[in-house]
Amino acid sequence: MKDCNALVKDNRLVAQDTCLMTLACELSPFTPGQFLMLRLTGTCDPFLRRPLAVLSYREGIVEILYKVIGRGTSLLAGKKKGEELSVLGPLGKGFSDPRPEEEAVYVAGGTGLPPILALAERMGRGSLIIGARTKDDIPLWERMQNIGGVEVTATTEDGSLGIRGMATQALNDLLKTVHKPCVIYACGPTGMLKTAASLAQVFGARCEVSIEERMACGFGVCSACAVRTTAGNQKVCTHGPVFDASCIEWGI
Ligand code: FES
Repeated sequence: MKDCNALVKDNRLVAQDTCLMTLACELSPFTPGQFLMLRLTGTCDPFLRRPLAVLSYREGIVEILYKVIGRGTSLLAGKKKGEELSVLGPLGKGFSDPRPEEEAVYVAGGTGLPPILALAERMGRGSLIIGARTKDDIPLWERMQNIGGVEVTATTEDGSLGIRGMATQALNDLLKTVHKPCVIYACGPTGMLKTAASLAQVFGARCEVSIEERMACGFGVCSACAVRTTAGNQKVCTHGPVFDASCIEWGI
């Protein structure tokens, strides 16, 4: 884990309310699913850092894909080339690699694309399902389609791109066609993760989920990010954000 200043190289809108930020900074190698805590420099507003998943990191350049949904991310979206940010990370526990015999299925919805896309790009094999309300909510569509070895399917609730419907329906349909050991990697709304976990049980697949939770410190000292698991409450920032789906107490 490193705490350093990063220089904004680029920061642009790539879908509705979604920005791709490129930063120059020296990080340790990351595992897809790990995240950075970002903070504006030279101000205490907003005071807390924002947790954002790493999309890619290579040769001192890190990519962050983020949804503009509050004051912190709005301020982040206003950052221009040449400005600085404070970066802490990579933090948390990322996804495990698929086993050699396993078919890998990646599922993303809502704001859950960055860790899933990072993993699909790293692995270069399997199937990726991206679900959204409408095509304008899907960032980096062309980039996803160009991942060698990964079959990409979009689902949209209004049918404006790909299959009309939900990502979990497409996941169900896909799992019916997989006749070998399978691992599902998912990040997105809780309902989607819960359904992915149920489908994994039905089809006898492994399932890892990346939990999106509010965080304050990002490294285990404040207890702001607890999630209920079969082993008791665990901290998303240090025990996760990636968990074995069968260990999560999903509630009703
Ligand atoms: S955010 Fe502080 S313990 Fe997880």
